[in-house]
Amino acid sequence: MKESKIGVIGGLGHIGLIQAACLAKLGYKTKAYDINVEKMKGILQGKMPFEEPDLADLVIETINSGLLKMTSQITDLEEVDIIFICVGTPSLSNGEADLSQVYAAVEQVAHNRNKHCLAVVKSTVPVGTSRKLTKYLKEHNLSEKVTMVSNPEFLREGSGVTDFWEPARIVVGGEVKEAAEKVAKIYAPPGVPIINTSWENSELIKYASNAFLATKISFINEIALLSEKVGGDIRVISQGMGQDPRINPMFLEAGVGFSGPCLEKDLKSLIAQFQKVHRKASILESVLQVNEGQRQGLVEKLQEQLGNLKDKKIGILGMAFKAETDDVRQSHSLPIVKQLLSLGAVVTVSDPWVKTAKQGGLSEAELPGVEWVSSPYEAAGGKDAILILTEWQEYKELDFKKLKALMLNPLIVDGRNLFNAKDMERLKINYLGVGI
Ligand code: UGA
Repeated sequence: MKESKIGVIGGLGHIGLIQAACLAKLGYKTKAYDINVEKMKGILQGKMPFEEPDLADLVIETINSGLLKMTSQITDLEEVDIIFICVGTPSLSNGEADLSQVYAAVEQVAHNRNKHCLAVVKSTVPVGTSRKLTKYLKEHNLSEKVTMVSNPEFLREGSGVTDFWEPARIVVGGEVKEAAEKVAKIYAPPGVPIINTSWENSELIKYASNAFLATKISFINEIALLSEKVGGDIRVISQGMGQDPRINPMFLEAGVGFSGPCLEKDLKSLIAQFQKVHRKASILESVLQVNEGQRQGLVEKLQEQLGNLKDKKIGILGMAFKAETDDVRQSHSLPIVKQLLSLGAVVTVSDPWVKTAKQGGLSEAELPGVEWVSSPYEAAGGKDAILILTEWQEYKELDFKKLKALMLNPLIVDGRNLFNAKDMERLKINYLGVGI
């Protein structure tokens, strides 16, 4: 067992639970603090609050070993040495990040301490937040209780556990270099680069990284627009570009565009941070604009093939924002389904991990009249078209002869470019991808 005792606030969220379980697995006595008692009860009965590969086993193992404990009492963190803050920073209506949960966490920690601790902000927070929090602590005579460290998280949903064990780098920021170094050493695997820098650099590295990933996606999606018109195949173009190590092949998959709880939110927050200093984020604004266009482009493809979509039956394959997660927060599938409904289409949806509106955390009223079915074949049955929106492995292995026989009209619009157009042509399926 390791010496430092660790607390994780927001400990049952996507980032927090992965963080808590992995730290416990490393041998730290770890307390996951969360206000959601229902989630806690569920976990103790073996039911995870969300799907994440390899996480359930790890959580159960570390609870059974006694190293991972869950609590809804902040006073249970009084004695821990390092507290990771993993709460949400959702978008406000003006694009700025809502920091209320981060502030509440730091306040709660500071007021419930027996001894000094490091408060480590994993949540994505605007540049200047750690400094402002430190000022707040000073003004309230709490700085002897808490030292702020910035340690942005780079893990991806769907591969979060692997990303924890194999980070590309660890970024820590602080005024006290030793404090930041202590945090990095808690979990840095040997040989992983550690960037120990200022709070501001650390906070901006996170935003710039997510914004750059989003930019790569919008960039390739823009090239896809031209590729499609001139008879190119964007997948080959991406491959050809990606072989240049200066470009690399990652995040060059054209399709429906990026979505999910992070990239769009962080881009909007970054744009708002530019506005605060009276600078224009021209590239970032275009990245968002291109992304919106991708969603619209898929609906237009349906319209081009089917004409007016009123009463047309459309099967949607994929509600999660990407494969290997059941997360539909800010998923591109939601605005697309809503737009189809507003155009009068009759929509059936299917997703291997999101089987009902409730399971996706949605109310029935949010997607009125939508039918939820459990298999892609059911979603295709009697449809004028199917629209593929998530790159599930299960979809890659579909039996297209069977699927086609079930459809009213063999039209597939593929927002993930999963298939070979020639194979589809042979099957006499009208197949439209993005940039192909
Ligand atoms: C993203 C970052 O990749 C993580 O490093 C970061 O820690 C995380 O946000 C966060 O800030 O918490 P995540 O949103 O989980 O991770 O998922 P990504 O793998 O980045 O995918 C985001 C979206 O881009 C998905 O909709 C995905 O389908 C799409 N995408 C990805 C593409 O359209 N094309 C690609 O080539 C790659």
